[in-house]
Amino acid sequence: MYADFSAIKNGLAGARPSRNACSSVILEGGAPATPQVDIVLRLSHDTTMDQSLNFAAVIKAAGIPEQGAIWANTWPDSQPSFRLNELYFFQPRWMDEALAKLKMPETINTAFRQARPFFAQHPALQRLAWHCCHLLYQTRFDPAALKTWPPMPTTLGPDEAMFYAFICLAGLPHLERLHRQRGIDPAITYDTAADFALWMEHYHGQSGVWGLSNTILRWVYGYLSGALVKLGRLQYCPGKFPYDFHVYRRRRDPSVLMLAGDGMQFRPDGQFDGANQITAGAQCWTSRWSTTPTEVNGNSISHSGVAQPKIVTLPTAEWDEVLTQQSPILEVHIPATGPLTHEACIDSLRRSRAFFPVHYPEVNFCAFTCVSWLMDNQFDRYLPESSNILQFQRNFYLHPVPRANDKQTYERVFGRSYENIDDAPQTTSLQRILVAHVKAGGRWHSGGGFILREGAGAGVS
Ligand SMILES: CC(C)(COP(=O)(O)OP(=O)(O)OC[C@H]1O[C@@H](n2cnc3c(N)ncnc32)[C@H](O)[C@@H]1OP(=O)(O)O)[C@@H](O)C(=O)NCCC(=O)NCCS
Repeated sequence: MYADFSAIKNGLAGARPSRNACSSVILEGGAPATPQVDIVLRLSHDTTMDQSLNFAAVIKAAGIPEQGAIWANTWPDSQPSFRLNELYFFQPRWMDEALAKLKMPETINTAFRQARPFFAQHPALQRLAWHCCHLLYQTRFDPAALKTWPPMPTTLGPDEAMFYAFICLAGLPHLERLHRQRGIDPAITYDTAADFALWMEHYHGQSGVWGLSNTILRWVYGYLSGALVKLGRLQYCPGKFPYDFHVYRRRRDPSVLMLAGDGMQFRPDGQFDGANQITAGAQCWTSRWSTTPTEVNGNSISHSGVAQPKIVTLPTAEWDEVLTQQSPILEVHIPATGPLTHEACIDSLRRSRAFFPVHYPEVNFCAFTCVSWLMDNQFDRYLPESSNILQFQRNFYLHPVPRANDKQTYERVFGRSYENIDDAPQTTSLQRILVAHVKAGGRWHSGGGFILREGAGAGVS
């Protein structure tokens, strides 16, 4: 039982002493250290013998005795590679280097540095952290399973809220490897991964404690698994167009028209029936869509996102279908990293057109799409032409989305929902606009939009 000098040099002197045989530091991604590695740590612990680190004891110690049961079946898989006090992401030097690569704000660096000793003192949390990392970064993991990952209570102290933040930081080597294989510039890798700092700030804003919510893990795993990439101002994620809409482009000019699929229920305002849980009853109408060898007939959706009851006919000799349900797309996401200037968005969209064919050649996307509170087609009634939100929206051909509601609008603009709109903050012009609209009897709702990859959607070519 001893620690050599390099361990002390690397700030590990305070690590919990071992009781049994030697082992080497767990390297990034779980590979055991080779002799060439300069960190040779001989603090160790025969965890197979330690009953305090068996599954039931660990989830009880972590404060999640029932919710943690989701990890029971896979628990033995991460046991052989676990080394107490030797996990790379709890080593101060590794942590500082990772945070520096991500150019994290000092507040976030401090949050990690202050929480680290807490995890060093809690073998059960180290064991659980290793299990999570093993699943996320060493197995073929189904992100849908993240829905069941429980919130970490703060029964052991407020630092426990940092548990999932460490899990995310620990994913950096995995992402570096994935991006390296695709030849992606490391600057893009780090810019992409740094996003979880925003969610830590969000968590801090909501709870007053530094940490990361379990509910945001699925989003973060989107980029830690290499699916989502940030290019300048915007983020992109390959996907499939989920809606039963048909988009046509005229051959002789850049005209684009969206038709609704067959049998959809719309209200007279052109939104889906049931949007904001409001149904139009007998006033509601049903869309029709049909094709023959020579023409397509259907209800169009206007460029400003309003479903039209009148049927239009498109000759197939003139119009090509370019986007429909299940077509490959690039979802566009907007991180909360400051103003959404038109120039920054156009620059990002241009970069992505060049980036994906080179680094993700298998993603043969037809269009950029965005579903968001920012796509509410009522904004043009209120926001000035200079508004970034309005200019962003104008790049897209808008469309209604089923089950649209105002939940995200409230969350993103007021930080939470308000039963009494008079209680909502009114600091910015947008907040005042939102309140005025609601007081006038209106409802805000999310919406969708697309920009075709080739040629124009609405504004961007
Ligand atoms: C998207 C975003 C960057 C737009 O901000 P912007 O570039 O300032 O937008 P605009 O120029 O249109 O802003 C016009 C006004 O609305 C205000 N505003 C914009 N977004 C706001 C928000 N989320 N909350 C409160 N006010 C907001 C601006 O401060 C400005 O107010 P002012 O006239 O009093 O100065 C911003 O809303 C944001 O960071 N949102 C969080 C990320 C997000 O919602 N992503 C989409 C998730 S699907």
